[in-house]
Amino acid sequence: MKKVSRFWSLGFLLLSLTALLLGCGKGTDDAEPASGSNDDSDGKKKLVVGTDATYAPMEYMDNNGNIVGIDIDIVKAIAEEAGVEVEFKNIGWEPLFPAVENGEVDFAVSSITITEERQESFDFSEPYYIANQVILVKKGSDIKSFQNLKDKKVSVQINTTGHTMMKEIQGKTSSKIIASETMPLAIEELLNGNADASVGDNSTVNEYIKNNPNVEVEIVEDDSAEKEYYGLMVKKGNSEVVNLLNEGIKKVKENGKLKEITGFDVE
Ligand code: ARG
Repeated sequence: MKKVSRFWSLGFLLLSLTALLLGCGKGTDDAEPASGSNDDSDGKKKLVVGTDATYAPMEYMDNNGNIVGIDIDIVKAIAEEAGVEVEFKNIGWEPLFPAVENGEVDFAVSSITITEERQESFDFSEPYYIANQVILVKKGSDIKSFQNLKDKKVSVQINTTGHTMMKEIQGKTSSKIIASETMPLAIEELLNGNADASVGDNSTVNEYIKNNPNVEVEIVEDDSAEKEYYGLMVKKGNSEVVNLLNEGIKKVKENGKLKEITGFDVE
């Protein structure tokens, strides 16, 4: 009896030790900066890519918990052409910007519009996608244009180009702008009556309508909305990663892979 229990304690001790060692190993891995220098088993450079996977069909979580979407397919195609491995991390929208800045991720893909303001703090790849802001309203709404939104309650995803546009229309400190953490939450504000309209990228608002044919909402397109170009966002000064991504983007534009994924030409 005694022998048996000693056997078990020894086994347990060994197990705990192994677990501890494995745990430590993982800990060191996680602590490593997402610098482009990580090589994977076949010697390819591995880049960690941050995203906000709440923006179907561009980037979202599928039922198995995988990060998927058009943006994800585009980055995979670009990475293949550029000869690098990519690993996606769901970071969220607002935390994505500091994550790029502090090196937690090597770059971000998240339907990010290249804007002059963002270019002050980040570097961007060449554009790979074109979008514009649209208005989502309940069916029968009297809202027909962006100017009609001047005195309306409007929900947006916080710190997006839709948010900026609403600040331009209503004034920076307007209390009628509801800034939600995600686009689905912004749309929720429209559905529950807190907002008269929701403003966001056509890429994602169109998808909402497609997936929810029974919800009584419709899209208002207004030609005054400027074209927006999506880019991959990199830490300021990291020309190594920008050059690599641009090389990949050039190739997927030339060989038609980008068009295969998005359905249209960029530029
Ligand atoms: N294109 C817009 C912007 O850059 C919205 C992007 C939001 N993307 C997302 N994955 N939530 O501001």
